[in-house]
Amino acid sequence: MSEPTPAAGAQQEYLLELDDIQAGYGRAAMVLRGLTIKVPASTVVCLVGPNGAGKSTVLKVASGLLKPRSGRILVGGEDVTGQGPQEMLSSGLAHVLQGHSVFREMTVAENVLLGAYTLRDKQQVAERVAFVQNLFPIVGERWKQLAGLLSGGQQKQVEFARSLMVSPRVVLLDEPSMGLDPKTTATVFEQVVRMRDAGVAVLLVEQNARRALETADIGCVLDLGRVHITGPAPELLADPQLSELYLGGRPGERAASANG
Ligand SMILES: Nc1ncnc2c1ncn2[C@@H]1O[C@H](COP(=O)(O)OP(=O)(O)O)[C@@H](O)[C@H]1O
Ligand SMILES: [Mg+2]
Repeated sequence: MSEPTPAAGAQQEYLLELDDIQAGYGRAAMVLRGLTIKVPASTVVCLVGPNGAGKSTVLKVASGLLKPRSGRILVGGEDVTGQGPQEMLSSGLAHVLQGHSVFREMTVAENVLLGAYTLRDKQQVAERVAFVQNLFPIVGERWKQLAGLLSGGQQKQVEFARSLMVSPRVVLLDEPSMGLDPKTTATVFEQVVRMRDAGVAVLLVEQNARRALETADIGCVLDLGRVHITGPAPELLADPQLSELYLGGRPGERAASANG
């Protein structure tokens, strides 16, 4: 940790800040309209919102795949607005895309090592391999096997491992629970917490709002292109009005309707 600057005394230190972002595609109406999200160190920040709300767009802006029309992106306090994906990766932002990005006909090892293609130092690669195998034991156990033989949840862990090879400061996770059953989803979210505990901050976007907020430290609700509500995730979960509007009813009600 560096010495805090005098000006930073009262402020919290953020690894990633998206500040007043406007972004969209071509001539279509803006998708993000003044969006602000801050990710502190050692934290899982979760952005929830319905399908089409702009969650993936937020991550594309953060990882340099989509340039914002206005606003600023800061990584560790440094302005990186306008950088492309390769530079953003070097700045410490790794993006795990929505959907499935594992190459089924390649081994787990080959899939993970794809994340290390920018690393020149063999010793460093070996250290990162040891790190991800320790964090995700299944990745180590299945190292030499074809990735296509792994279950969906295990393949997600291969994707996580690949993203961690470059020692990112922040990992951007786009709907890691997509297509997974509830039990597997729980396992994948446990791995998200393990990543945080290993010192990687996480910006997670999820449609599966309740489950994601149960995992996250800080929650943000995306509505009409802005963060409508933000706060400690347990507080958002406990808010009955928020539950009603964005989380599909109160947990008790949901459980009751699911059982009957
Ligand atoms: N490549 C694209 N070109 C044009 N419009 C897009 C593109 N990607 C997403 N959109 C539009 O932007 C909006 C937000 O999409 P997205 O960020 O993918 O939402 P979410 O991830 O929350 O489901 C949607 O209206 C979608 O149709
Ligand atoms: Mg999406």
